[in-house]
Amino acid sequence: MRVLTGIQPSGDLHIGNYFGSIKQMVDAQKNSDTFAFIANYHAMTSGGKDLSKLTMQCATDFLALGIEPDKSTFWVQSDVKEVLELYWILSSFTPMGLLERAHSYKDKTAKGIAANHSLFSYPVLMAADILLFNSDVVPVGKDQIQHVEIARDIAIKFNNQYGDILTLPNFRVQEEVQTVPGIDGQKMSKSYGNIVNIFGDEKKQMKTIKKIVTQNVAVEEPKEYETCNVYNMAKLFLEGDNLRALQERYKRGGEGHGHFKIYLGEVMWEYFREFREKREYFEKHQEEVRNILNIGAKKAKETALPMIEKIRSVTGIKY
Ligand code: ADP
Ligand code: TRP
Repeated sequence: MRVLTGIQPSGDLHIGNYFGSIKQMVDAQKNSDTFAFIANYHAMTSGGKDLSKLTMQCATDFLALGIEPDKSTFWVQSDVKEVLELYWILSSFTPMGLLERAHSYKDKTAKGIAANHSLFSYPVLMAADILLFNSDVVPVGKDQIQHVEIARDIAIKFNNQYGDILTLPNFRVQEEVQTVPGIDGQKMSKSYGNIVNIFGDEKKQMKTIKKIVTQNVAVEEPKEYETCNVYNMAKLFLEGDNLRALQERYKRGGEGHGHFKIYLGEVMWEYFREFREKREYFEKHQEEVRNILNIGAKKAKETALPMIEKIRSVTGIKY
């Protein structure tokens, strides 16, 4: 079974990215054929500032967080240009209505982001990413489900005309972390300015955690944990007895949300310790990172080339 996912190199990674997508990918390496790439063409839709620097930063982060080049095919999207050819071919199998219904486009334009063609046609490029590599499963956060469904719809239309060429993909969402909340309780997202970074200075991280919005309940009172933004973040890092112990502390009363925030900060810092150390290594060895990406691009091409040849042939692009 092939599992594929992409991530945009658009800034510091946050814990929503980690639990919603990266961790699933890292876990999948154990028992699937995993393909992970840095979606640098996609990042252009939101301005593309500092793109080359952010691409290297994202690669460094991914390697630190557990993508293993021996187990996964790991590359930068633009190193396999066949994806752009497939993007164009698939455009002819994409009804306008399908793209007009895309939430991400509607949300962004509703927020006043000027609409351009790449923002509108972005799901077609994502479909090309998925279909070029015969992906069976695409692990994503909830917000990306619709894009995987669009890829599937496009593949069905293509196959209706040319036969069973494209593999129909399925999305995979980790139920308990469908949407990681941000410090304001909304979905955590770079664009909402409510993120908690994975890598960052300890003091700054604590400062961010202290800003998490909580209910106003007297210290001595028992507190509800299910609806608490601090608890909902902490539970991502805890299991079993540790999680139950935290629930007890809420129910018991006698501690304020400030105490739970300090606890969350400590737990998080510990959770990412090993990843931070790995990150420091790759930060110092950027040539090694480039080398890994080059090897990854070669491997990705080995899968993409027979597929695009087949598509050129059935569509008649090859003459
Ligand atoms: P952002 O919303 O911060 O711009 P991206 O759109 O770059 O994040 O998302 C990268 C990946 O991380 C996607 O698979 C997305 O679904 C997942 N993801 C992002 N934010 C969250 C979140 N708050 N909860 C769960 N998954 C998320
Ligand atoms: N659109 C995804 C995001 O913003 C990134 C992405 C691009 C992707 N191509 C993909 C994810 C293919 C999964 C599969 O998060």
